[in-house]
Amino acid sequence: MAQVSGSADVPDMGRRQFMNLLAFGTITGTFVGALYPIVKFFIPPSSGGVGGGVTAKDALGNDIIVSSFVASHSSGDRTLAQGLKGDPTYVVITEDKAIADYGINAVCTHLGCVVPWNASENKFMCPCHGSQYNNEGKVVRGPAPLSLALVHATVTEDDKLSFTQWTETDFRTGEAPWWA
Ligand code: FES
Repeated sequence: MAQVSGSADVPDMGRRQFMNLLAFGTITGTFVGALYPIVKFFIPPSSGGVGGGVTAKDALGNDIIVSSFVASHSSGDRTLAQGLKGDPTYVVITEDKAIADYGINAVCTHLGCVVPWNASENKFMCPCHGSQYNNEGKVVRGPAPLSLALVHATVTEDDKLSFTQWTETDFRTGEAPWWA
């Protein structure tokens, strides 16, 4: 009898351990799930973790291939691409002909027109009510109340361009980003 009850205990223990394991797994899974966005936030985009980012696309909707994009553009160019949430976003070619590590959201902070780049004036000039922004998108003339929003622009390992949220200080004003 003792043997029977003993052997009956074995599956009970097994089941309990299994249930414990299941509970542990659920809790761990929930914990890891909750941690995931936090961990993701701290992975720099350059390491391949493009948390919350999008691959920049050209006017035709194709992924921008950085090497050919740079080869076909000149120093100082500002070229519209599709950015975060589909917002038109300028890809900036620096003076030493590289992709700048920031992109400029082209939506005017006055009433939302897409602001064209004026290369001869070296400014973004809004045709709707005359607001102007310098070549980094900092507002220099109203009625626009704020500078154009920034995004991070990162070249990925597969030669594409990734836009991610800019939540740090606005390097043009030294202030907290109004858009984040
Ligand atoms: S929308 Fe650009 S100045 Fe008004």
